[in-house]
Amino acid sequence: MTAPSNPITVAVLGAGHRGRAYAEQMVLTRGAFEVVAVAESDAGRREAFANCHGIKTGKIFSSSEEFLAAPRMADMIVVALMDQDHVRAAVEALRKGYHVLLEKPMATTLEDCQLIEQTQRETGKTVLVCHVLRYHRVNQKVKALLNQGAIGRIVNIDHVEALDPVFFASMFVRGQWRNEKSSTFFLMAKCCHDLDLIAWFAEERCLRVSSFGSLSYFTRASEPKGATDRCTQGCLAEPECPFSAKKIHLEGMPVLNPSIQYADSATDVDLSRVYNSSLGCGNSSEEILQALNHGPYGRCVFRCDNTAVDRQVVALEFDQGIVATFTVTAFNARINQRMTRIHGTDGVITCDYKGNWVEVKTFRSNAYERFDLPAVDAGHGGADKLIIEALSQILRTPGSVPLTSAKASLDSHRIVFAAEEARRSGRVISIDP
Ligand SMILES: NC(=O)c1ccc[n+]([C@@H]2O[C@H](COP(=O)([O-])OP(=O)(O)OC[C@H]3O[C@@H](n4cnc5c(N)ncnc54)[C@H](O)[C@@H]3O)[C@@H](O)[C@H]2O)c1
Repeated sequence: MTAPSNPITVAVLGAGHRGRAYAEQMVLTRGAFEVVAVAESDAGRREAFANCHGIKTGKIFSSSEEFLAAPRMADMIVVALMDQDHVRAAVEALRKGYHVLLEKPMATTLEDCQLIEQTQRETGKTVLVCHVLRYHRVNQKVKALLNQGAIGRIVNIDHVEALDPVFFASMFVRGQWRNEKSSTFFLMAKCCHDLDLIAWFAEERCLRVSSFGSLSYFTRASEPKGATDRCTQGCLAEPECPFSAKKIHLEGMPVLNPSIQYADSATDVDLSRVYNSSLGCGNSSEEILQALNHGPYGRCVFRCDNTAVDRQVVALEFDQGIVATFTVTAFNARINQRMTRIHGTDGVITCDYKGNWVEVKTFRSNAYERFDLPAVDAGHGGADKLIIEALSQILRTPGSVPLTSAKASLDSHRIVFAAEEARRSGRVISIDP
């Protein structure tokens, strides 16, 4: 990307994993963006972020509320706060004249998502929602093939998100997204990306959804004999348990083979390093043990306050005839995988997000054509970089609408809310136009 002479100035709200990842990509644009302010409630993260980006005193805030009360000091903000804090930050910032890069989910209720979209329209500012999957090279290629009519008219779409159980337990049993009271329901927290992707591929209005799923395994009923509240309290099952916090955080998880990478990263990752970054402590064994003895990540996975479902299926019907299915499971044999198959009247598209390839088989030729795409070295299979490049272009092109605009995202969030209602009620839910 060639660097423009005038940087877009940025304030980051929430300098956690996502806030730091976007800021890092902005720095790599070499001048398209300049991070000038931060609001972060954790003192250590705040100081480290401010030092890293050379942020001046007076532009360092200990809460997003304090930042939003101050006069406007940048062109845009990054909202990388926890899920329930998105709406207030996005709406107040838009009203103050900021553009917004908004982490998913937009918000945790449909009304709040609508409020963000309405405020975006009223202010005319840009909102780009971080549905990173749409920017992934593989999905861009799939979309281009669909637009060219490579497989004729889409008949149905099958999409699967299969998570590694240890990853699932870390995020959705012990971690920040375990209980919807403090974050949001599982389908929204993890899979709003996937339903957004299906909606984008279908390019039709979703009419009806049904869904089934539950929390089936990570409950007290599954606990092994001799279990204790924490893995460090002498649990008899701990030495054999795949969810042993001692193994995950203290003994070290293997560096993975590139073909089974963690969370779509383009490089090998030491999983312990990834998991330990959630602990909020230093790297010494004493500090980690202390965190396991007292914090959420040392708890027995069968004795937590988790509500996140560990498997769910969703069936969708669109208004021009496409039908689709989505499955998410916490019980995959490999590290997190997404698998997509799109069936058309003239052929089938399959793809591999980690292998970076797309394959098309047409019925007429009875042949396969495979497209190997160049890997992009950034989080989410390179999409973290591509979304920031897209943002730079959009903010510099008056009148342009992001691929993941507030409107597009509101439409796909509607499907997620409807699917969850369908799961809870056991009914087929119609989606209002
Ligand atoms: N696009 C994606 O693929 C993707 C992936 C992971 C997470 N997310 C979303 O990104 C958001 C952030 O997730 P994360 O993993 O970075 O979480 P995180 O906990 O690492 O980061 C959130 C940060 O916000 C800070 N914070 C909390 N309240 C604050 C306040 N009032 N003012 C200022 N700072 C405050 C926390 O101290 C923390 O550092 C979540 O909404 C999550 O669902 C998106």
